[in-house]
Amino acid sequence: MKIGVLYGGTSAEREVSLSSGKGIIDALSKKGHEVIGIDFHPQRINDIINLNVDIVYIGLHGRYGEDGRIQALLEMLNIPYVGSGVLGSALAMDKAKAKTFFHKNDIRVAKEMVVYKHNYAKGQFKWDTNFPAVVKPNQEGSTIGLTIAQNEQELLNGIEEAFKFDDTVLVEEFIDGVEVTVAVMGNKGEEKALPVVEIVPKNKYYDYEAKYAPGMSEHIVPARVEDEVTTLLQKNAVLAHQSLGCDIYSRVDFIVPRDGSEPVILEVNTLPGMTPTSLYPDAAREIGLSYEDMIERLVELSIK
Ligand code: DAL
Ligand code: MG
Repeated sequence: MKIGVLYGGTSAEREVSLSSGKGIIDALSKKGHEVIGIDFHPQRINDIINLNVDIVYIGLHGRYGEDGRIQALLEMLNIPYVGSGVLGSALAMDKAKAKTFFHKNDIRVAKEMVVYKHNYAKGQFKWDTNFPAVVKPNQEGSTIGLTIAQNEQELLNGIEEAFKFDDTVLVEEFIDGVEVTVAVMGNKGEEKALPVVEIVPKNKYYDYEAKYAPGMSEHIVPARVEDEVTTLLQKNAVLAHQSLGCDIYSRVDFIVPRDGSEPVILEVNTLPGMTPTSLYPDAAREIGLSYEDMIERLVELSIK
């Protein structure tokens, strides 16, 4: 097949996408496909318009890549692509809106307050839940712009920091527990959850360094949780993916609370990282799919 791979891009997760893109291009080349890689930039839209390929693999992360915009462009050009469509991508990227769908489907979410730049007045914002609190840009990935605030002052500073990335900021209760993630794969209505991956960061939190510096986190598959917790995580991962109308694949992040209460969903990632330290490939390996097999499987599932 002739496959276009979009990678890089202009979002805050550009570096991550350069790494995912390299992995995806190498994997598809090894499988014998003719691959045309494009480091995406708005000025290169003409190259996409003239791209004569069977399908596009979107190896972008974050804004313009993961949020439905590039998907809309490909739809207009009638170019098939791998992964979720316009609405599913856009909803998953908007953490606050996505949470309303999860809540509606009885998936536990963290308590939150949404802060909008246009009506935010410093000194008037009052967080009425406990500390620590998690402050994050509403539409970012890879923990970029995220603060775990231990007190009021850190919270206000965290909001200012998050506003550098997004005009909408999410303040959430901090759930003390183990971070786990569930890879979802399959066509609509036939999605399967892969084995649960448990994350053990070397840093205090699973931050940017713990995510991407080799050796800075350990991934344990399957996760060391009770069988019924695994079952619930897998069920809720598929439900969350479906509730947003996602397609082909996603990776759904959760916290399993230390107090034994129900797992809390963090978010659905419609274009999960495919870097050497990423989680989705580890889950695929557990069901016998090498990195190359996994990428090819996602392409095959997307050919309608
Ligand atoms: N946002 C990064 C790429 C991930 O979820 O893997
Ligand atoms: Mg994410």
